[in-house]
Amino acid sequence: MAKILGIIGSPNKQGNTALLVREVLKTAEAQGSETKILCLADFQLSPCNGCRSCLETGKCMIKDDIEELFTEMLQADGIVIGSPVYFGGVTAQVKTFIDRVGYLNKARGREAFRRKIGGCVVVGRHSGLLNTYIQILLFLLDARMIIPGTRWVLGRGFKNGDVEKDSEGISLARELGYEINNLANLTKPLRT
Ligand SMILES: Cc1cc2nc3c(=O)[nH]c(=O)nc-3n(C[C@H](O)[C@H](O)[C@H](O)COP(=O)(O)O)c2cc1C
Repeated sequence: MAKILGIIGSPNKQGNTALLVREVLKTAEAQGSETKILCLADFQLSPCNGCRSCLETGKCMIKDDIEELFTEMLQADGIVIGSPVYFGGVTAQVKTFIDRVGYLNKARGREAFRRKIGGCVVVGRHSGLLNTYIQILLFLLDARMIIPGTRWVLGRGFKNGDVEKDSEGISLARELGYEINNLANLTKPLRT
């Protein structure tokens, strides 16, 4: 059984991003995966200070919740990251997450998440969705994750719950959930 972790990068824990990430996980679960969801807003995370000491020590010198988050990610076969669009890009929470986790992973020879399955989900009102999607996608590729071939999971919405009315966005999220479950199981031998 594959373990799929969903990471909600919106400060709004009951918002559109949460709905869409949950839709991915519900489908993966229906296909047999074990799933877990985390909200970055529940973690105390400061921005990277650029000291690069992690490259020497393998550890981050900022004392916050980054190690806990990193450990959760290590335990997963697949990781889905969701962000709303904030001024054409990811939220500050997701950018902090990418910088911190990305550099810690670099310090570990980019081996920590290699061949895990990565997915991204983005929600916005009307502009900057693709840019935000690519920001997350590049992080997943840098971490040497495997990205399932799907249509881009972009949802439309402004107020809480709007994305539920975006039937195409919901169907894209389900497609991702289905593919992540499949690939996470098929590639398990590559991660042992
Ligand atoms: C600070 C801020 C900046 C935003 N910038 C954009 C933007 O550039 N493009 C866009 O389409 N929507 C933008 N939005 C709208 C959100 O992406 C949209 O409301 C989204 O559904 C929020 O997701 P959530 O419910 O998961 O927080 C912005 C919202 C906020 C609060």
